[in-house]
Amino acid sequence: MKKEKRKSTESVEVCRLLLDLIDASPTPFHAVREISSLLVAGGFQRLREEEAWNLDRNGRYFVTRNGSSLVAFVCGAGPVEEAGFKIIGAHTDSPNLRLKPNPLFKKNGYLQLGVEVYGGVLLTTWTDRDLSLAGRVILKARKGTSSELVRIHEPILRIPQLAIHLNRQVNDKGLVLNPQNHLSPILSLAGKDAASEAFLKDLVSRELGCKASEVMGLELSLFDVQKGCMAGPGQEFLFASRLDNLASCHAATLALLRAPARVDPTRVLAFYDNEEVGSESAQGGASPFLKNILERILIHSSSGREELLRAMARSLFISADMAHAVHPNYSEMHDAQHMPMINEGPVVKSHAGQRYATEGVSGTRFELLCQKAGVKVQKFSIRSDLQCGSTIGPITAANLGIRTVDVGNPMLSMHSIREMAGTRDHLDLIRVFTGFFSED
Ligand code: CO
Repeated sequence: MKKEKRKSTESVEVCRLLLDLIDASPTPFHAVREISSLLVAGGFQRLREEEAWNLDRNGRYFVTRNGSSLVAFVCGAGPVEEAGFKIIGAHTDSPNLRLKPNPLFKKNGYLQLGVEVYGGVLLTTWTDRDLSLAGRVILKARKGTSSELVRIHEPILRIPQLAIHLNRQVNDKGLVLNPQNHLSPILSLAGKDAASEAFLKDLVSRELGCKASEVMGLELSLFDVQKGCMAGPGQEFLFASRLDNLASCHAATLALLRAPARVDPTRVLAFYDNEEVGSESAQGGASPFLKNILERILIHSSSGREELLRAMARSLFISADMAHAVHPNYSEMHDAQHMPMINEGPVVKSHAGQRYATEGVSGTRFELLCQKAGVKVQKFSIRSDLQCGSTIGPITAANLGIRTVDVGNPMLSMHSIREMAGTRDHLDLIRVFTGFFSED
């Protein structure tokens, strides 16, 4: 009983940290900035891809690409070709609505913004929420450009639903939203002094404290201003945006920070942007970002190509992304033998068609890690008559040729503006990952 109680306060502690990360990270740019500061506080040093590196044995480093993907590593105490790499991968992006390049328009007396759908958004959940804007601003600099992150804290946008009186069949037929016609949020009333083209630039420059004329480019997304919370009579649940997949990024980061400073293997975090749109970008899971860094680590231990290939053959990649818990109102959507439950431990995902990279050995190695950490483990396989989702696991496995396992904590409402997961699961995943990063 006492032990159970301690575990529950511990899970509340780590979930508070997770909610802080999520609230501070409305976009992948913000997530990478927040994770970078956690790493800096843990003694990690920032490296830049365009500069020459000097790596120390047991040194702690991180690199970002496009400000939206991040690779962190702790150089191993042992020779890499003997100890290999231990990698945890996840993604920094979440499905959302993004402003088009020329977003402002007036219609029927309203000032509205044109948006694009980024990833597999559960569209109806973005209606009737208190929304705002965040993202990256590109500024004119003395030499070329510089960029700053921006976030408007107040709710300035809304996508109102049509009243039921004007849409009588909505409860029978469901809310069908055309992404071009029905998703443009209302910003304001288009009165005589209504905003001009420069309105958004003025808005962000005020927020940043710079001149509107310095603002060259805007990459802004919508987000829900409501903060995440712990919920349920026993605080067993998390209700928040972007649990998929900032919860996995957070668990892996905390694990690396909590693990011993020195072990033989080289430990790596690889957090990618653009997973929700297929990973094909310079900073996505299909890019050579991680491969380049693993090679540079090897070059620095004055090893050759054979050592790199030997190191890869000794490595394990844990691809962490959220999993589908069984929904009590739709349990027929799961295979009866594979119904992951919230707070019953991380899920190992497999798929014969390789939409997940797990195979027998990698799956078992993860199960053993759970056993060692005293954490229950669950298994997921999609109904044989349904199409399976995918994640960075198969893409990085095909790219690097490293043995890979796809895992993740169970959740409900995946890709909703407000998702739901379990508080105990988060602590359990941190424990398993910490064990992984602690082994010699
Ligand atoms: Co995901």
